[in-house]
Amino acid sequence: MDSKSKIDLQKLPRHIAVIMDGNGRWAKQMGKPRVFGHKNGVQSVREVSEACAELGVEYLTLYAFSTENWSRPAFEVNALMSLLVETVRKEVKTLMDNDIRLEAIGDIEKLPSKTQKALIEGMHTTKDNKRMTLVLALNYSARWEIRKAVQDLSTKVKLGELAAEEITDDMISAHLSTKRIPDPELLIRTSGEHRISNFLLWQIAYAELYFTDIFWPEFRKENLYQAILNYQNRERRFGKTSDQIVLK
Ligand code: FPP
Repeated sequence: MDSKSKIDLQKLPRHIAVIMDGNGRWAKQMGKPRVFGHKNGVQSVREVSEACAELGVEYLTLYAFSTENWSRPAFEVNALMSLLVETVRKEVKTLMDNDIRLEAIGDIEKLPSKTQKALIEGMHTTKDNKRMTLVLALNYSARWEIRKAVQDLSTKVKLGELAAEEITDDMISAHLSTKRIPDPELLIRTSGEHRISNFLLWQIAYAELYFTDIFWPEFRKENLYQAILNYQNRERRFGKTSDQIVLK
């Protein structure tokens, strides 16, 4: 049996988040500039989006640009921004054909105006699609959104709209940029790095973490199936004992 047919569709993660890493090292290994790696990473984005939609995963979040990425050489930042604009524009038709809605999380207003424009147009065109939501994390950092949530909640407390002791986990979730998106059950990071790098820190409280040595430009559908199978073979206990899970 191939990996895809071994997947239990009743136990699919609703939301998969991916830290796409290793573009630069993959390119270097081939004796090419880093940007070559980013360009080839787009094919992996296509494959993973298609595989998730085919299986029935409802949300796929891709970490495409972190707030820390601004410190890369200007040439690389500009190339990444152009690639984003180009990819979003080019792929809108595929998103429409596959009933996929595009969303973005992060400090979008601080992106170059061309990138913002492409994103806003892409999100608008696909807004009524229902099969899957593809979320691009752009100019995103978890500490940024947690800080913003704390500031917004503090303002409400200051205005007397809320008492500090009434603040719940759900309220905090509702003040994050993922407010309309369920928490991911599975987080994948490619390229052999075992870090979270300021990604969805609040939302991954109970997520299963899956690390693979494969560089992002080489990540294919088969690798995604392997990650899902690995996830399905784990016991998710949420702080309970194994016996409690079996008896549930
Ligand atoms: C990490 O590899 C990758 C990125 C920072 C960018 C990912 C972007 C794409 C795949 C392009 C387009 C994406 C979309 C969603 C349209 P790295 O550069 O950190 O690699 P390294 O760790 O080997 O240096």
